[in-house]
Amino acid sequence: MHEARRATRTSARPGATTGATELKATSGSPAVSGPLASASRALAFGFAAPAYAFLTAHDAWRASCRALGELVPGPRVLDLGVGPGASVLEVAVRDGRVHVGLDVSHRMLQRAAHRARARGLALPLVRADAMVLPFRDGALDGVTAHSVIYLLPDPAAALAEVSRVLRPGGRVALLEPRASRPSLRGAWSGGPRYLASMLLWRAMSRLHSRFDERSLVALVEAAGLVRARAWPVLAGFGVVTVAERAA
Ligand SMILES: C[S@@+](CC[C@H](N)C(=O)[O-])C[C@H]1O[C@@H](n2cnc3c(N)ncnc32)[C@H](O)[C@@H]1O
Repeated sequence: MHEARRATRTSARPGATTGATELKATSGSPAVSGPLASASRALAFGFAAPAYAFLTAHDAWRASCRALGELVPGPRVLDLGVGPGASVLEVAVRDGRVHVGLDVSHRMLQRAAHRARARGLALPLVRADAMVLPFRDGALDGVTAHSVIYLLPDPAAALAEVSRVLRPGGRVALLEPRASRPSLRGAWSGGPRYLASMLLWRAMSRLHSRFDERSLVALVEAAGLVRARAWPVLAGFGVVTVAERAA
């Protein structure tokens, strides 16, 4: 993995191998799609980052993180919108791949760094915007994004970037909120925290966007990715798609 051509907003080098990276705040902010959407992102992933980490600390969320990570090849895997590290750390403890976490939120990256250190894991972290990825063309084998694309003002731009940074044959796996009616009973069977996190996710996605299997496949295919397929997960609250860059 190489340092970015356009790493204007990174504060840690991808590919560093020295454990969880200390991160400094950097200039620049992501594009926003409206004041309400922007405020909700700032609240949920800035000040409320600890609440977010608490709510997503349940088995169903963790299992979905693991399953997503297992859909992409290594050794160089980027987790877009790494947040507090739930998705990437769930996978990184189990394999020998090199994972890099990327997020636009300083608070989220601090939490991910803290959690990685606590587990004794090397987790290079990068502060950057998902719509301007600081990696060279074809630098990565796999990209995961667990509930991230729906938050972006320009999902197509992010997917175009994902396509660019994947090597031929590399794969992306996304998990996003699903538009169709979910199963409340299914979420409740996983306990109150599971249900609460799903309801919050649904409220959040109402402010941003939701996908069904067809629209998520269409989004990745519009970015030039091939062999896309999608299926519902998390009691129908979520939808996963996997696709690859043509060899
Ligand atoms: C719902 S959280 C998902 C966190 C993590 N994937 C998980 O499973 O716990 C979404 C994350 O996307 C990040 N995010 C939002 N907009 C972003 C952008 N434009 N570029 C990079 N990250 C962004 C937020 O800061 C937040 O940490």
